[in-house]
Parts: sequence; structure tokens; C-alpha cells
Amino acid sequence: MTTPAQQHPVPAGQVEPWQDIPDDYRAAATRMIEFHMMSEIVGPVHEFRWVPRAPSLQAKLMFAAKSQDEVGHGLMLLRVCEDLTGKSRAQYLEQILDGPPRFMNIFHYPWDEWVDPAIVAWLIDGAEIERQATLLRSSYGPYARAMRKILKEEGFHHHCGRYLIGRMMAGGPRQRAAVQRGVDRWWLRTLAMFGPRDENSRHGPALMAFGLKLARNEDLRQSWLTKFVPQIRAMGLEIPDDSLARDEEAGQWAYTEPDWAEFSSLLRGGSPVGADLQRDLRTARRVNDWLLAED
Ligand SMILES: [Fe+2]
Ligand SMILES: [Fe+2]
Repeated sequence: MTTPAQQHPVPAGQVEPWQDIPDDYRAAATRMIEFHMMSEIVGPVHEFRWVPRAPSLQAKLMFAAKSQDEVGHGLMLLRVCEDLTGKSRAQYLEQILDGPPRFMNIFHYPWDEWVDPAIVAWLIDGAEIERQATLLRSSYGPYARAMRKILKEEGFHHHCGRYLIGRMMAGGPRQRAAVQRGVDRWWLRTLAMFGPRDENSRHGPALMAFGLKLARNEDLRQSWLTKFVPQIRAMGLEIPDDSLARDEEAGQWAYTEPDWAEFSSLLRGGSPVGADLQRDLRTARRVNDWLLAED
């Protein structure tokens, strides 16, 4: 089976910020890249909290490095957004810290135990790789180029998660049960992360028409399932979905749909968890930012 990255041709010409960009293209690119940028900046606040609690020095090192990478992704994308929209750094910081919580569904859920950071790195960074591999050929040049570095680092995050999960599964029944709880918690959230099918997605078709996005949500989800279902089972874990089955003829997986109403309510209205992440960043600004502010 070919992956979505192989199915979509390289766009003939990429759009650059110094060109005359039509308003509707700029609006679509802004919406998509701001969403990614804010996820990379707000999301790692979760991770920072779990680094000191890591179960080994090696795991601590891995997640300190991962958190640093994610903030770097946020910063790169912030610069892409600044060039695209002409908004200042100060305006963006206000939008990220005080504005509506426009970031990925997965950052709206609590992390319950230390297995969660490892599951997120394994499954969700793995899902991000699936999407980002196609974005290397996004029609907006600065975004596609940023993806080269981001994608490599997401590969490192995925491998850290996979390695730690493998270590836990080689432990005893307590460790294996903890990992299974993690898979049970994160399975549907990960499937939802790709978004609803494009025919049910408000902005997807326009993003595809502009070449900003190169693969449909469902194709990415199917490709992820093809890679991860065998990987999860090979670890000795169960997938919490009795209706999960592959139709070899159609080349498609059947699966239980995530709760799309919950998904859109998180993306539109946020959650107490997401609000807490933004609150942490606001507190840091209030208490500490004067130290590096220009007088
Ligand atoms: Fe990232
Ligand atoms: Fe990552």
C-alpha cells in the first residue's frame, strides 16, 4: 500500500510570503498554520510537568529533549505566521495566551499517570508524522520547509515513546496493565486527532484545493491504522475496539468512530485542561516576563 505522502504529487510552484497572495489563500493558510503553531506552544506545557516525574534518568532526558523540540517547533511556526500575516510577536503572544484555545484535541485531556507521556509520544507523535510527511509538499513554502526539521524531530519523539513502551511491556503484569490502560485512554483520541472525514470538515476541501493540505483526513487515519494496528498488537496490547477490522478488498479499516461532537466542542470551546495550560503560560508572563522585557 502506498502512503498518502507517495500518493500526492509535488506542487508545481510554492507560494512565498513576498508574493502577491490572494486573500482567501492567506486566510486559509493562516488558519491552518496558526492552529499547528499554537498546538506546538501550548501542548508541551503538559510535558514540562511530567519531565521531573519520569521513571528513569533516561526517560527524563528523552522527555526534556522532546519538550525542547516542541517549543522549537512552536517558535519556527510562530515566525512563519508572523511573515504570513504581518502580526507582531506581541500580538501573537496575546492571541496564544489570552485568546481562544485553538489547538489540537489531544491537549484537552488530562494526563493520568506516567505511562501517558510515553503513549502520546508513541501513538500521537506517530500520527503527526503521518500528516507532516505530506505537508513537506504543502503549497506554502515556509511551512513546507519548516516541516523538514519538525518531521525529523517528531520521528525521534515517536521512537522514544516506542522504546519506553517496549521496556514497560517487557516488565511484569503491573507494567503491562499500565500500558494497556494508556492505550485504552488514548485510542479514540488518537483516531480523532486526524479530524472528521473531509466531506464533514468545514475547512478541509478549501485547504486541499489550495494545496496547503495534501491528504484527506480519512486517508491519513487509514494509513496510520495500517502501520499502528500491527505495531500495537505486536507489543502484546489489545486495541479497545471490537469492530476494528480490515477489509482487504477495499483496502480500508472499519473502526468505531470517535465522538465527533466532543471533538468539535473541544476545538471550538476548549476544556478545563486546555484552559489550565494557557493559565500556566499567562502566570509565567505575569510573574517572569519583566526580566527579559525591554524598558
Ligand atoms: Fe512538535
Ligand atoms: Fe513531537
